[in-house]
Amino acid sequence: MRFLYSVPPDVRPAPRTTTETFMTIDILLTQPLPDTIDAELSARYTVHRLYAAEQPDALLERVAPRIRGVVTGGANGLSAALMERLGALEIVAINGIGTDAVDLDRARARGIHVTTTPDVLTDDVADMALGLILMTLRDLGAGERIVRAGRWGKAAQPLATQVTGKRLGIVGLGRVGRAIAQRAQAFRMPVSYFGPREHRDSGYRFVPDLAALARDSDVLVIAASADHGNVLVTADVLAALGPKGFLINVARGKLVDEAALVRALADGTIAGAGLDVFANEPHVPAALLELDRVVVQPHRASATHETREAMGRIVLANLAACFAGRHPPTSVTR
Ligand code: 8YV
Repeated sequence: MRFLYSVPPDVRPAPRTTTETFMTIDILLTQPLPDTIDAELSARYTVHRLYAAEQPDALLERVAPRIRGVVTGGANGLSAALMERLGALEIVAINGIGTDAVDLDRARARGIHVTTTPDVLTDDVADMALGLILMTLRDLGAGERIVRAGRWGKAAQPLATQVTGKRLGIVGLGRVGRAIAQRAQAFRMPVSYFGPREHRDSGYRFVPDLAALARDSDVLVIAASADHGNVLVTADVLAALGPKGFLINVARGKLVDEAALVRALADGTIAGAGLDVFANEPHVPAALLELDRVVVQPHRASATHETREAMGRIVLANLAACFAGRHPPTSVTR
């Protein structure tokens, strides 16, 4: 693979076509993109791949002053310190919907666009939530481990928990929360939700207190944004969920007190958890991995070919609009 940042500016090819006119624009890419999107990005801009740099500091030292766009993920975001170093920055194009890892106030103050990829990932994230619900309550991981270890017929097979009809509590009835609720109808799960405000149009039951929602739920799903930086699921909420309750998280690990969650799972305060996200990714507490009643995924709810392609197209459209002097279609800051 050829990394454009290793090409000194004086030997860059001269622009030949209209797509190449953007090659004078330097983009910092913090994580990999699908090949098709990466190819288009590289054909239009000079791309500096921070994630692939052997010496990230040396790379930044060399290119920081001329970076005009950052392409990053929702979880990676852009640190406030790095944003300050990028004096020519015009756009932070997030390949995701979470803006919690970017200082939006600072971006607004500097007139920097921060863009996201809304809508196109909603279905996949909701599917992941339902997948984790099924996998966790029905013990699918434990079952698979029995077969793979050749223990079928030898090991006792524990009975699992039925999904149909269980009470579902959703934390955050945004686009993803609603898509989860819609899918839950097929499992005849009564839906209640907690959030900053009631959505009367939804038809679901609003519970303005999270511990009360947990107490009333068999399955508590986190689908909230982490923009406000507060821990929502505390030890008290887990205690309210109770020994037959399951926690599912497809939003952000930092919304949950992870140490309290590990304790609650280990001592049976709650029945199980299905987690796509963690407080300090890619670190997963070792104690979680020892528990059969936990299902873990490496933050991949939106990671399908179809959705990552659609997300990448939105990233490209936002960059193109920004550098052509138009308003990026999904800017959240300006
Ligand atoms: C992505 C996400 O995994 O949308 C988000 O905020 O965290 C995820 O969909 C991430 O942004 C990868 O690019």
